[in-house]
Parts: sequence; C-alpha cells; structure tokens
Amino acid sequence: MATIRDVAKRAGVSVATVSRVLNQNGYVNEETEKRVRQAMEELNYKPNEVARALFKKTSKTVGLIVPDITNPFFPELVRAVEDVMNIYDYTVILCNSDEKAEKEREYIEVLKQKYVDGVILTTNQFAPEEVEEWDVPIVVLDRPLHERYPSVVADNYGGARLATRHLYEIGCRRIAHIQGPTHVINAIERFRGYQDEMKALGLGDRQFVIQGNYQLKQAKEAVMDALAKQEIDGIFAGNDAMAVGALKAVQQSGLRVPEDIAIIGYDGIPLTEMTTPELSTVSQPIYEMGAMAARILIKQIERKPLEKLHYQLPVQLVVRQSTSRRGLT
Ligand code: RIB
Repeated sequence: MATIRDVAKRAGVSVATVSRVLNQNGYVNEETEKRVRQAMEELNYKPNEVARALFKKTSKTVGLIVPDITNPFFPELVRAVEDVMNIYDYTVILCNSDEKAEKEREYIEVLKQKYVDGVILTTNQFAPEEVEEWDVPIVVLDRPLHERYPSVVADNYGGARLATRHLYEIGCRRIAHIQGPTHVINAIERFRGYQDEMKALGLGDRQFVIQGNYQLKQAKEAVMDALAKQEIDGIFAGNDAMAVGALKAVQQSGLRVPEDIAIIGYDGIPLTEMTTPELSTVSQPIYEMGAMAARILIKQIERKPLEKLHYQLPVQLVVRQSTSRRGLT
C-alpha cells in the first residue's frame, strides 16, 4: 500500500508538501498540488485516517452507545442520529452495550483510541466523574446522566401518569405496572408516575408491580405468574416490548384483551400496530429525540453556544384496540 513518502517521491516534492495538500493547510502552488494529486491517483494512495485524526485533532467520527439494539426503540433513535451526523459529514460508530456497564466502559476505551470528536450516550450507568475525564463533547440521550451534560429526554413521569389515568378512565380499577430495569432512570420515572397517579385516583393501596427488564419474553413469563396470584383488569407496561409480552400472557391464560384486561405500553414502536388487538401506547418522539441530540453534539464539537442544556420532549397517548372504551364498572 502506497505511503505518503511514495507520493512525495513520485511527485518530486517533500512529505510536508504532500501533508499540506492532504490537510489543505498552508500554501501549495496550483501546479505542485496538481502533481501531488496525480501521484496519489497513480499510486492509489489512501491517507491514514488515524494519522490524519492525530494531526487535525478531528476524526470526523462520533460514538453512539445504546443499551439494546434488539429493542425496536433504538434502531429508530440510531437512525435519527446517523441522518443528522451524515449531513455534517460525520460517521457514527454504533456501540451496543446490552445494558452492561462493563461493556459500556470497554466501548468508551475503544472510542477514545479512535479519537472520536464526541459521544452520544444512552445510559445512566456511568459515574459523572468517569465521564468528565473523557475530555470530549458528550450529549446524554433518553436516559439522564448528570445535569452538567446536555440532555434530550422525553417526559417519562408525565407519560406514565397519562397511561395510568387512561386505564382508569376506561373503567380499570385493578391496574398493574410492569416496571423496567430498576437501575434505568426512565424506568424509575415511569414507576413513580404510575405510583403518583394511582394515589391521585384513590387507588394508592391497590398498586401492583410486576418486575420487568424491558424485554418481551421475560415480561410474558412475569405476567403469567402475576395472573395466577392477582386479579388484574388493567396493565401499564413500562415499554412496548413488555406490553407485547403481557398481551401474549393474557391471551395464553384464556383471557381477552381489552374485555378482561386492558393493556397499554410505552414507546410507540411500529410493532404495537401489528398485534391483535393493536396495542395502545404512550408514544415517545423517538426520531426527534435522536435528531436533537445529534444537532446539540455538532454545536458542541464546533464550540458553538447552546441555547439551553436540557430538553424534555412531550409524549403522546395513542389509543388503540387494547384499551378501547368498554363499559366496566
Ligand atoms: O424500550 C426500551 C426503553 O429503553 C425505552 O422506553 C427507552 O426509553 C429506552 O430507555
């Protein structure tokens, strides 16, 4: 593979001149630049991107760490980040951590070695001081980490109250909540919203929590167990994947949705329109969240001022068949 020295020799110039042509900095006369570019073409020279990153102190790459690429919520989020980053000629290095803090730390080391220009984080498992020493622009997306980092999240607490109240309004009085992972900040926020709404509705002593982990299969098993122990007429699942699992469990138990048990999820992924009955949900502005986080990161990389540091986007109740109004007493 041709090196920068081969190009210099072929063009009859110094390595420094080739470097100036490559990095478009410093004066090179037109005829010399033409000779250098011709030599690059004849030798099929490919610049060493790591060397360029070291020299220019920019790699035109950013890192994006997400916890579970198998959950349909994240591909839409990733797509939004990539679309915006590509507009500014940045490449996105996608890292899937499987909700494991250790894997997140390993990825951070890899991203540091690749001299990424910034990182978008969807995790709350790092200690703020760990993040601080990375010395690159950081934007926190979907799961708040620390107030010092710009963040884009949705209104998890308000969305949970909306979901719980909707079940009450269609007649449910024995409403269970399938909680997401207890270490995930937005799962905690949704749980808090469920609790506060139940108290506000006078059902504070009827709360019933089913422990989930944001995964479909586990939620199905957990709801099967719960149905054997507890009379339930409404389920608010902390994300759509768990709502699909709950639907499977209820129907497998010989019960009907929504006649016997109404179900509402959270996220607004397309899968909720494919189930029978179609699932009601609280829709997050997934694409908008990702695009906003990417735009904020670009501003930070370009050292432009941010109008504000923290954005909380509204969510929307989407009513479908799984909570269609029914005459429950
Ligand atoms: O479904 C995956 C969940 O994890 C979503 O609710 C999203 O908010 C992410 O944090």
